[in-house]
Amino acid sequence: MNDIILTTGFSRLDKDQKIDLVSSHTSDPALFSDTLHASWHRDPEIQKMIDEFSENTLGNYFFPFGVAPNFLINGKMYMVPLVIEESSVVAAASGAAKFWATRGGFHSEVIGIEKIGQVHFTWNGGFDLLNRFFPEIRKQMFANTERITSNMMKRGGGILDIHLADMTDEIPDYFQVRATFDTRDSMGANFINSCLEEFADTLRDFAAGCTDFSGYSLEVIMSILSNYTPNCLVHTWVEGEIKEGGHNYDDLYTDREFVNRFQTGVRIAEVDRYRATTHNKGIYNGIDAVVLATGNDFRAVEACGHAYASRNGQYSSLSKVEISGNIFRFSLKVPMALGTVGGLTQLHPLAKLSLQLLGNPGATELMKIASAAGLANNYSAVKSLVTKGIQKGHMKMHLLNILNVYMANDNEKKHAVEYFKHEKVSHSAVSSFLESIRG
Ligand code: MEV
Repeated sequence: MNDIILTTGFSRLDKDQKIDLVSSHTSDPALFSDTLHASWHRDPEIQKMIDEFSENTLGNYFFPFGVAPNFLINGKMYMVPLVIEESSVVAAASGAAKFWATRGGFHSEVIGIEKIGQVHFTWNGGFDLLNRFFPEIRKQMFANTERITSNMMKRGGGILDIHLADMTDEIPDYFQVRATFDTRDSMGANFINSCLEEFADTLRDFAAGCTDFSGYSLEVIMSILSNYTPNCLVHTWVEGEIKEGGHNYDDLYTDREFVNRFQTGVRIAEVDRYRATTHNKGIYNGIDAVVLATGNDFRAVEACGHAYASRNGQYSSLSKVEISGNIFRFSLKVPMALGTVGGLTQLHPLAKLSLQLLGNPGATELMKIASAAGLANNYSAVKSLVTKGIQKGHMKMHLLNILNVYMANDNEKKHAVEYFKHEKVSHSAVSSFLESIRG
């Protein structure tokens, strides 16, 4: 085995020392260091705050911050901020938003906002004995968390319920305290985890002080919120009339043919997990972009959505199509735990800007907006797939990236964009085109 050389004391170095050290490991230390410095915010106070979001921060990593206008949701018009690096996502969101804005827009309702946390523990005294004392333990849990919950309760939220779950069928002596929470406009992770750790202490103290429990052992394994929040759920849909006749889709399909193909496309994602994964990825193109733009936790939102997509035992599409007579309805039901207060939402300059652009929504309004962006992207993707295919539009949008790889100047880009209006875009085609005009 090769000798392992550990880097020690790295976190104690100051930022410049860290950059020097890391740069010295690269083939071009000066360029590495310059590139990092060039990524810093020009306001040192803001940069310091960004540095403190995480650890060992050396610079900022740029993603485009864009906007999709014309999102009509429950009768209110939004310009939706999107942070995404993939070409075509903003165009897809904008295209679908504009299309549906003239057909009633997006309709959206929040079905629930319940969050979940668990204390996982082992106990060898059996369910019945523990359950007999659980009403008293529960009462103490509510009382002992009052100092954590009082502010949340003033805002109308707090702990909704605490109960005991017997998990001994899965693992011997394994139990859970399961609690549900309403965290109002905050994502609530810190609030929930603080409550759970207090529950764990209460449980331990109770077990240690209860004479009926003597001779048995209770051990808390861990206390943590669950990112699976199936009851923090939003339902969003569009619906429109199917007009008979006329070839509207790429001059290939009538409305009726198109919606039938669209429905089959979505059905395939319902029954085939390979397609479902890509289909749902298209939904998260829109959702993640809003979640990131507003300073929310996209990993939590994605993990939850994919778990929800498997809730019936098979991973499946999150969206569905219903055709009833001449009405086409395309809908998405998706859980997501979002916040519009706390966390990065009030610190990150562009997250603040995003929320401002959306009119400073509460968490439930943001759930509606993010799900509409997800449905919009899903609509555009499936529409392209079942008509002209995805590559034509995608590669057109990707053209500038390819031109940048070949270091095209503005004039070359202008010519290329004109030329590729009528030609298929590929790396080799762009390279040949540039060679031809560069002579
Ligand atoms: C690409 O980022 C997303 C799509 O693959 C989604 C889909 O296939 O539905 C186009």
